[in-house]
Amino acid sequence: MSGSWSICVHTDRPEATRALGAALAALARPGDVVLLVGALGVGKTVFAQGFAVGLGVEGPVTSPTFTLVRQYRCGPTAPVRQLVHADLYRLDHLSEVADLALFELLGGDGVALVEWGDVGAPVLGEATLEITLVPEPEEPDRRSVRLVGRGASWAERRAAVAGAVAPR
Ligand SMILES: Nc1ncnc2c1ncn2[C@@H]1O[C@H](COP(=O)(O)OP(=O)(O)OP(=O)(O)O)[C@@H](O)[C@H]1O
Ligand SMILES: [Mg+2]
Repeated sequence: MSGSWSICVHTDRPEATRALGAALAALARPGDVVLLVGALGVGKTVFAQGFAVGLGVEGPVTSPTFTLVRQYRCGPTAPVRQLVHADLYRLDHLSEVADLALFELLGGDGVALVEWGDVGAPVLGEATLEITLVPEPEEPDRRSVRLVGRGASWAERRAAVAGAVAPR
């Protein structure tokens, strides 16, 4: 077990959360599972949109709330071939997360971004990047963003993640 690490940053507007997503997308590897955690409307989909841009996904990435899962093809220079964007908000039981067959959808070459990922964490494997967005009181456009990397593959990328999310 390689343990876990945690990094905290802030974003001060939606564009900054998008940029954070795009910067992290450059570090994606096939099979990654990224959990997006936080209250309704905090910015999980905004992050996912930036991540998709970073992967060269064409066309709009919208909240998959009513479809649960959407798949997108990544651009030719992306480190992964496809993005699987899921939203577990409407699921009531962990067995339903298993039914989504996210790992099958991922195949050997995709990355999964899972909104309300904490709900599915028990069945989504131990090697995850968990990103928790928290609103800041009295600062409507500011979010604190906590990144927790778990497992060997994210342990290897700790320094790279720190570099990617560093304020600039
Ligand atoms: N710093 C910020 N980062 C991200 N979004 C922000 C920020 N400041 C304000 N916003 C606004 O917050 C809203 C976030 O909406 P978004 O759909 O991404 O939330 P969500 O977490 O996916 O919600 P849901 O739980 O319904 O899926 C957007 O309207 C966005 O413009
Ligand atoms: Mg959303």
